[in-house]
Amino acid sequence: MASIEFRGVVKVYDKKNLVIDDLNLLIEDGSFTVLVGPSGCGKTTALRIIAGLEEVTKGSVLIGDEDVTKKEPGDRDVAMVFQNYAIYPHMTVKENIEFGLVNAKVPKAEREVVVAAVLKQVGLERHVDEKPSKLSGGQRQRVALARAISKKPRVFLMDEPLSNLDAKLRNQMRRELVELHNKLKTTFVFVTHDQIEAMTMGDCIVIMCDGRIRQKGAPQRVYNDPDNVFVARFIGDPGMNVYPMEGGGFFGFRPRKVGFAGSGDNGAGVDASGDDGPADNASGDDAVSWPGRVAAKEILGSEVLYCVKTKLGDVMLKTSSAGRGMDDLATVSVPRKNLVFFDQNEDRVRDENEIRRLAGGRLGA
Ligand SMILES: Nc1ncnc2c1ncn2[C@@H]1O[C@H](COP(=O)(O)OP(=O)(O)OP(=O)(O)O)[C@@H](O)[C@H]1O
Ligand SMILES: [Mg+2]
Repeated sequence: MASIEFRGVVKVYDKKNLVIDDLNLLIEDGSFTVLVGPSGCGKTTALRIIAGLEEVTKGSVLIGDEDVTKKEPGDRDVAMVFQNYAIYPHMTVKENIEFGLVNAKVPKAEREVVVAAVLKQVGLERHVDEKPSKLSGGQRQRVALARAISKKPRVFLMDEPLSNLDAKLRNQMRRELVELHNKLKTTFVFVTHDQIEAMTMGDCIVIMCDGRIRQKGAPQRVYNDPDNVFVARFIGDPGMNVYPMEGGGFFGFRPRKVGFAGSGDNGAGVDASGDDGPADNASGDDAVSWPGRVAAKEILGSEVLYCVKTKLGDVMLKTSSAGRGMDDLATVSVPRKNLVFFDQNEDRVRDENEIRRLAGGRLGA
């Protein structure tokens, strides 16, 4: 077990392509940390830098108390699982898992013990002598995991390891990985571009964009309290509704924090994320409303996602009642206390007086 630290890390490819820009990040010992961000933002590069597969242009990397910046990958005591789980097709499950141990000259008796233990951990005991071609995608993924576990690394690095799996299997593997982390208590660093995966798996999530960290924190925290417009829009399904304000800056509200005026279902619901309690009647004086027309309706199961065209632009609205139909005229309404504000640099406004002033102003009405 070990923490990981980036200190002023810069990565430039081909002398001109700045991919990581002064990255300072502490990944806590024993955490399940998820690096999330859009394609090309530098997640894989950051992970490869930890593994030692990529040199830094500037700065240093620590694992535990040790500066590993100049260390070879094999000397860093980390294990990495890739998206396309490289397992050998001509070897059995057992041989695949044992391979690294044989290379490391671990005696046979000890290998047997380790292999049996990791097979149990990933639930593949019954498949020990099978070739990968006989296994499902999820089972193959577990062979790759088992091989990584067998090395007993200080740190586990995973680069989109679930993206080749179908939706159901992916959900199952998400739970299994979280359970595995609880069992092993090793530091996990997991990369994904899928914010739902990040939110459901990580105890800490690091949101990256263009090689920079935009926010780091617990999933609830980044959802309830985004630091900037990028995070507000990126996290959530769908993300926050955000609109420019007259005179500069932006305001926004979550799709669950807006409702239809006069329907009794007025953005007053408590989010699944469990943040602040019921709002007052959204159609009252303390709410702000925009007339519009329903442009899309998607039944999600127990909830309905609407897109309402208003003069603000598209407003995404999530509610438990399916009363409105396509093309219906509908007024959307948000309690003013559900509004959040951002300055002209797209950073969150946190000053209470400033929030009161902005919330009382004209908001695209
Ligand atoms: N070996 C390389 N040589 C030159 N440029 C590279 C190299 N590897 C990555 N890059 C560039 O660095 C940037 C970040 O790439 P990286 O693979 O880290 O992104 P990512 O966040 O993992 O994206 P994705 O979600 O698509 O996997 C990209 O613009 C990419 O083109
Ligand atoms: Mg990548």
